[in-house]
Amino acid sequence: MRHLMSPLDLSVEELDNLLTLANDIESNPNHYAHACDGKKLATCFYEPSTRTRLSFESAMLNLGGSVLGFSSADSSSAAKGESVSDTIRVISCYADICAIRHPKEGAALVASLKSSIPVINAGDGGHQHPTQTLTDLLTIRSLKGRLNQLTIGLCGDLKFGRTAHSLIHALIRYPNVKFVLISPDELRIPSYIREDVLKKHNIPFTELERLEDAIPDLDILYMTRVQKERFFNEEDYVRMKDFYILTKDKLKLASEDMLILHPLPRVNEISVEVDDDPRAVYFKQAQYGVYVRMALILTLLNWR
Ligand code: NCD
Repeated sequence: MRHLMSPLDLSVEELDNLLTLANDIESNPNHYAHACDGKKLATCFYEPSTRTRLSFESAMLNLGGSVLGFSSADSSSAAKGESVSDTIRVISCYADICAIRHPKEGAALVASLKSSIPVINAGDGGHQHPTQTLTDLLTIRSLKGRLNQLTIGLCGDLKFGRTAHSLIHALIRYPNVKFVLISPDELRIPSYIREDVLKKHNIPFTELERLEDAIPDLDILYMTRVQKERFFNEEDYVRMKDFYILTKDKLKLASEDMLILHPLPRVNEISVEVDDDPRAVYFKQAQYGVYVRMALILTLLNWR
């Protein structure tokens, strides 16, 4: 039985197969419409979510399966003091596969240790978000045609943004990938990623503050939201929240084929006037999230 805690749980070959399966699902949805007949997905969300939870549910329904779950800690027995370990043991009796989101780093891993069904980390605090990364990789591979030879700018809250952490982990395995890490000093990438992931693997990267300085060189611009819920005080959040706003004007500095990704939800970091630009692919990205989660569910349930 396999779980998905981090993008590194899949080898590059497995990842490529999964993305190819997702592309096939996109082209031939009918072929997969009954692949999970009789199977159940549990979505256990202790933190707010729109895309991740609903795209998981949509994915399972598209496969002919059904879904059950809860969408906040308040509406589960966590409110009565139940541990994640106990909850997952019980969920294992009710479902065939589980996606879990929790505000604490490592919570999904704790669940996987006590689970008798595959557990998918749908976001654990400021740590990892592997299924968003699968979505991002599918978007980049489908629209750019490759995952190597890329200069990727990650912009915004690189300290708390788990989507940025997972994407870096996944992309360092492809040749000739360079990172430009664009953040205010207070929201720089955590040192364990700078040292143990980037420097250790000799991955070229630069860190800078001004988005305008980075834009001209990028193949991909990955914007992120300042993660309000992870701040210790409101004042710091308010000071940081509008640090970056991608506007049409700033986009004039970008190449014609740069892609703009964002895991969403967006707050102010991308002006709505950018949405009509052909390079803005964040809503398409949300659609890819369904195909890739379908592919992931099939893979973890050993479908053939
Ligand atoms: C992201 C998350 O939850 O980390 N959202 C998502 O799953 N698409 C990004 C965010 O909330 O900013």
